[in-house]
Amino acid sequence: MKIIKTVLILLFVVFVIVQFIRPEKNTAAPDLSKDISTALPVPDTVAAILRESCYDCHSEETRYPWYFEVQPVGWWLDDHIREAKQHLNFSDFAVSSLRRQYHKLEEITEQIDLGEMPLPSYLLVHRHASLTIEQKDLLNAWVQDSRAYMKSTYPPDSLQRRQR
Ligand code: HEC
Repeated sequence: MKIIKTVLILLFVVFVIVQFIRPEKNTAAPDLSKDISTALPVPDTVAAILRESCYDCHSEETRYPWYFEVQPVGWWLDDHIREAKQHLNFSDFAVSSLRRQYHKLEEITEQIDLGEMPLPSYLLVHRHASLTIEQKDLLNAWVQDSRAYMKSTYPPDSLQRRQR
């Protein structure tokens, strides 16, 4: 019994100590010159859906829940946000290459159609973020319009992926 007690106390001490190791928050002041709305027309209806369902991970404006303050939960959330931003960051979309922008738009539709985004673990706690069929249709239509817009605005070889 004594050993169990010691282990529990040790675990508690470790738990208390890790509370002091906090990830930095992903909340830069928004710089509109880099935002996706600078690169492409984004209707308000679309912007609202992206903000509600995607921005917590794919932007620099995460709205943090209280349990972010509890480690190791906060580390786990931070990890998702970092990884998500590497793949797609709406807050600096306008500064990525046209090729990347064009391709990321296509990936958005892919992820929505596969039902992989928003992440299922996120939807467990953020039910409001789950996409209705109408919202999916609206986003997909916007992706199509945006790709058509890019195609008619830029020379074709600026949108094609480099041959490998
Ligand atoms: C809880 C965090 C979270 C939310 C919310 C979220 N994503 Fe993601 N997303 C990720 C992570 C993590 C990755 C990278 C790993 C992966 O593909 O699973 C990712 C990857 C992606 C990718 C890139 C896939 C690729 O092949 O590179 C796209 C596109 C994407 N998400 C779109 C969206 C859209 C659109 C929404 C909103 C409808 C959304 N995500 C909401 C976490 C999130």
